[in-house]
Amino acid sequence: MSKIWLITGANSGLGLALAKYVLAKGCKVVVTARDTAKLPSSLSAAKAVALDLNWPDERIKAAGVEAWKAYGHIDVVANNAGYSLTGPVEILRADDIQAQFKSNVFGQLSLIQALIPLMRERGSGIFYNFSSIAGFAGNSPFGAYNASKAALEAFTEALTKEIVPFGLRAYIVEPGFFPTNFLTMAKSTENEAFKTLYPQFEGITEKYHAIHVKDGQVGDVDKLSARLFEVSEKPLAEGWTRIPLGPDCGQRLLAKLDVIRENVEGTYPPPFAHLINDPKRGVHPDFGVGSRIRSAASRIQPGPSRIRPPPSRFHVIFSSNSETLSRGNYIVSRSLMCYLCGPSCGIRLERR
Ligand SMILES: NC(=O)c1ccc[n+]([C@@H]2O[C@H](COP(=O)([O-])OP(=O)(O)OC[C@H]3O[C@@H](n4cnc5c(N)ncnc54)[C@H](OP(=O)(O)O)[C@@H]3O)[C@@H](O)[C@H]2O)c1
Repeated sequence: MSKIWLITGANSGLGLALAKYVLAKGCKVVVTARDTAKLPSSLSAAKAVALDLNWPDERIKAAGVEAWKAYGHIDVVANNAGYSLTGPVEILRADDIQAQFKSNVFGQLSLIQALIPLMRERGSGIFYNFSSIAGFAGNSPFGAYNASKAALEAFTEALTKEIVPFGLRAYIVEPGFFPTNFLTMAKSTENEAFKTLYPQFEGITEKYHAIHVKDGQVGDVDKLSARLFEVSEKPLAEGWTRIPLGPDCGQRLLAKLDVIRENVEGTYPPPFAHLINDPKRGVHPDFGVGSRIRSAASRIQPGPSRIRPPPSRFHVIFSSNSETLSRGNYIVSRSLMCYLCGPSCGIRLERR
């Protein structure tokens, strides 16, 4: 049976595209806008409810209940409404930051809190919480926006675990760049300090748009809508919380993960500590491949300040069959068998 959707901020951009798409699929749709007169005639088949995320908590909750009553229940909530505040962290005004969080985080939470009990009673329901690739791998000077989306992501990660037992799901919707009104509507803390201290960010939203267009990294709103419709019909595996969308999104997610991995491997020596502590776990997958061992070893500088002393009586040796890869006060020999990893592994342990 066709689902009933609630889509916030449906008068523009992604919300509008999604509302049109699901209407065309035969779904019933409740759309919200701050000013319902702004909703286009293409959404005349939907029911409209006024909602401004700047409203106080109770008023947003009342709008959520009104939306629920429009068709008797809601199956899918697209928490889409939101905007971006632009400006280097140093010069952002406190009230602008608070307004950013009120719209992008606190207002969303009020709506979610209003709807969870109603959905729980029915034993089904989906929340699509619109974050952004910026919530995971943000750029400058979008610190306030990045932080608001990161906060929504963190709430959603906890939320989905909490509500799965009730038959509900929450997803982090993670769009990359899509050509909507998003950048033109971005608010900015422009002042003299912005121009003099951070001239590189002047006209950043136009530059940002141009770079994405030049790189061919422009999302298609219909594909985004189709994907969200698809997931609403066929849920992702439990534990899969993110829905990456747009050609740049997956790339940026993976690039950030690579940097985090390098960061951990490079600053959390010894990467082999868990092997020493827990020999039964065997070879950690990160260090099972020669090239990775080589690169991990090359990043570990010899010396007691960079390396925790092994907790038991072992010397730790980074070596291959033909060479010692890393030298230092913890390298003793390359001729000893590693009792954990076998001869092909470059990490060898010698019992003292
Ligand atoms: N486009 C992108 O590249 C992109 C990328 C990543 C994430 N996103 C996210 O996707 C969502 C939709 O953005 P979009 O691209 O469709 O931008 P958009 O075309 O500017 O649409 C934003 C919608 O949100 C509404 N809105 C903004 N602040 C609101 C508030 N305080 N209360 C109620 N409604 C509010 C706007 O209403 P008004 O018309 O009344 O202002 C509008 O309907 C946002 O959450 C955005 O952060 C967009």
